[in-house]
Amino acid sequence: MAESRQSIHGEWSSGMVFVLAATGSAVGLGNIWRFPYLVGENGGGAFVIVYLACILLVGLPIMMAEVMIGRRGKRSPINALKTVAREEGLSSQWKLLGWLGVLAGFLILSFYSVVGGWALYYALQALLNNFSGIEPTAASGMFGSLVGSPSLVLLWHTLFMIILVVIVAAGVRKGLQRAVTILMPLLFMILLVMVVYGMTTGGFGTALGFMFSPNFGDLTGASVLAALGQAFFTLSLGMGAIMVYGAYLPRTESIPVATGWIVGMDTLTAIIAGLAIFPVVFAVGMEPGAGPGLVFETLPVVFGGIPFGFILGLLFFVLLTVAAVTSGISLLEPAVAYVTEATAMSRAGATSAIAAAIWLLGIAAGLSLNAWADIRIIPGMDENIFGVLEFISNDIMLPLGGLLIALFAAWFMRLESVTDELGLDVASTGFRVWLLTTRFVAPAAVILVFLNALGLF
Ligand code: PFF
Repeated sequence: MAESRQSIHGEWSSGMVFVLAATGSAVGLGNIWRFPYLVGENGGGAFVIVYLACILLVGLPIMMAEVMIGRRGKRSPINALKTVAREEGLSSQWKLLGWLGVLAGFLILSFYSVVGGWALYYALQALLNNFSGIEPTAASGMFGSLVGSPSLVLLWHTLFMIILVVIVAAGVRKGLQRAVTILMPLLFMILLVMVVYGMTTGGFGTALGFMFSPNFGDLTGASVLAALGQAFFTLSLGMGAIMVYGAYLPRTESIPVATGWIVGMDTLTAIIAGLAIFPVVFAVGMEPGAGPGLVFETLPVVFGGIPFGFILGLLFFVLLTVAAVTSGISLLEPAVAYVTEATAMSRAGATSAIAAAIWLLGIAAGLSLNAWADIRIIPGMDENIFGVLEFISNDIMLPLGGLLIALFAAWFMRLESVTDELGLDVASTGFRVWLLTTRFVAPAAVILVFLNALGLF
């Protein structure tokens, strides 16, 4: 038995490395690109509060559940779920939940890579000193001409995907570790510098009010669903990414402590990104609801106007690309781990084949921003392919996956197995809180938000 508790893919050298890798997965475009634009589109403070509640009451307990299942099953999410289900005397069909995750990762990475390509393109613009003295209208124009050009979008999407494949195929452990230990703190520090700049713009007070004073009258069912979807997306939950990293976690490490760190760092990064962006938005009279271009239209204005803006801008977009790559790795990992377990394919072969398919779908996502902008694939839904992929994966599949993971862990697994893996005593307050949130609060929240978004209550 002891042997089957060893991951066939190897293990992290310590709990700290797991925390760093999982933080590398969590912190990415979701924090810096997606969070601010969703806050802007959904009216600010009330959205932020609902988002934070989702992180704490739904995200944290489900993350503990995912890591626990991963470490107990010691394999790709599909096989981990199958193994744990069998050990618990349950149907091995729980593995389908792993398949749902693989599919979600597939869909997410297709558009994630398109946006990762934008980060790369902006790193080049920074290098060419194209932000120097840039005005807000010119910055919007720069973004518009990138997104409006099919060839540019596809070129940078392709480059991003190639970088990802090279890293994942080479085996990620060392590079990943370096990236998260050194580069992520640096990215965080640059964001802090930008917050300080934001304080000098005259828009800081408005930004604080916008982000933190809620007007709950603004909330719609759709924005609550978006907050829930974003909580899953930003924490990399609901699709097995954190589960597969949990599979490589040594048994000696505490799951509650590790997950607490990951959630804390991810949330802090998103808030700091908001505080870096919104002061500028208000100071220069931009529209907070500008949508997916928000970060790319505001930050060049900051870099163009501050001392050392050239080097800070360059570093920022390079590091944003790194953050996107460390997240992209975890989007690929569940599928790659499964294919290497289930077939004779090498890691490099599996990575390339899966990435090629995702790259193709990414082409559709990229073209839907320009040449195919008018194509609608879901009747009655006024979204381009990019928007449809984003909605279905983030707002439907991740919360659904998370719901099933919560049910599996808190209703179907034996409590002894759960407490054993979490390292908590059945009678301890920590365990009771986890059980209460994972059994009732998280599933109820997901179900209510779904029903509400469907207009059913
Ligand atoms: N958490 C990543 C981000 O915030 O950018 C995105 C992501 C990675 C989502 C891995 C889901 C996932 F499984």
